[in-house]
Amino acid sequence: MKKHLHFLVGLTALLAVGCSTPTDSKIEIVKRGIDHARYQLTQAAAEFDTLAGFPRSLMPKFKEVAPKDWTSGFFPGSLWLGYELTGDENLRAEAEKYTKRLEGIQFYKGTHDLGFMVFCSFGHQQLNLKDEHSAEVIVEASKSLISRCDPKVGLIRSWDFGKWNYPVIIDNMMNLEMLFWASKHTGDPVYRDVAVRHADITMVNHFREDASSYHVVSYNNDGTVESQGTFQGYADDSAWARGQGWGLYGYTMCFRETGDRKYLDHAERIAQFVMNHPATPEDRIPYWDYNAPDIPAAPRDASAAAVMASGLFELSTLVEDGQKYFDYAEQLLLTLSSDKYLAAKGTNGGFVLMHSVGHWPATSEIDTPLNYADYYYLEAVSRYLKLRGIDPRTI
Ligand code: GLY
Repeated sequence: MKKHLHFLVGLTALLAVGCSTPTDSKIEIVKRGIDHARYQLTQAAAEFDTLAGFPRSLMPKFKEVAPKDWTSGFFPGSLWLGYELTGDENLRAEAEKYTKRLEGIQFYKGTHDLGFMVFCSFGHQQLNLKDEHSAEVIVEASKSLISRCDPKVGLIRSWDFGKWNYPVIIDNMMNLEMLFWASKHTGDPVYRDVAVRHADITMVNHFREDASSYHVVSYNNDGTVESQGTFQGYADDSAWARGQGWGLYGYTMCFRETGDRKYLDHAERIAQFVMNHPATPEDRIPYWDYNAPDIPAAPRDASAAAVMASGLFELSTLVEDGQKYFDYAEQLLLTLSSDKYLAAKGTNGGFVLMHSVGHWPATSEIDTPLNYADYYYLEAVSRYLKLRGIDPRTI
């Protein structure tokens, strides 16, 4: 069924590309994005060789992070995606090298971010090498991740810091993909069961009537809600752009993995919120928060756009009328691939995209490149070309 829809959507996309840019020009634009990414990733991998960590962002100055940082898996993941898109063996060697730096993190139980850290890196390595070692790392990391689920609460605890009793953030939806994989690989349903329960309870407590989400929901020890609010958004009741992307991508993935229709309906509701929001600018790259008070002067968040584009490409393959999602994602991707967001070769500290927002309330990483913007951009490029029936290594 999914394959069938993939084909239909791909075919429809070829026949009705929707926007004014001709089909061939769109491929040229994306091809240029891949070319820039290959250059930037190659330079960055060589430059950071002597460091122990991973490049994360650029502002106010270059930020290198250790394996325990939540973003540590994205640079290795981007190297893998770069290899998958180009077949460049140097990128593959660099990807293996940087992935290896994350080896020890599988045993780390101090965060919920293990899915980001391990599945974006070792997940791609396993996909490419089909090696048992990567699979073992992913399964071990999944064990560490589910150790953070208190059965009385039923959710994976996100953070061990802050004012909350038991904080769970919308971003956590992204870590569930690794758990679904671990159950498929081992045949043990325990990982998947935790993921499903987490997704179900999050759907009830994180979302508002209009399908926008809170960033942080904290729970009491008996599983009742302690508070609903934000950490990285503009306000407790605002719609932080990347959070909407995490939810959209996360519930789309949950439907892919379970076939449970309620996840698909939920993902579509989030997509409608994003696509029809009056604060969305003409080029569709969202402001960092849909309720930022200084729109249209507020900075855009390319990372949110990249996450949304990748999620929407997948969503377009899972519904009968997926063309609207494909078209929207395509517009996001083409804009991200334009000079407005795509860095010129040799600039931007080796990152691929410019203009993301990390943590506005902390005045941290504002209007900067971010390694996760690059990762989801490259994933969106890969999904786009697949839907268009194009082997990226032939363009
Ligand atoms: N997971 C943290 C963030 O999206 O910034």
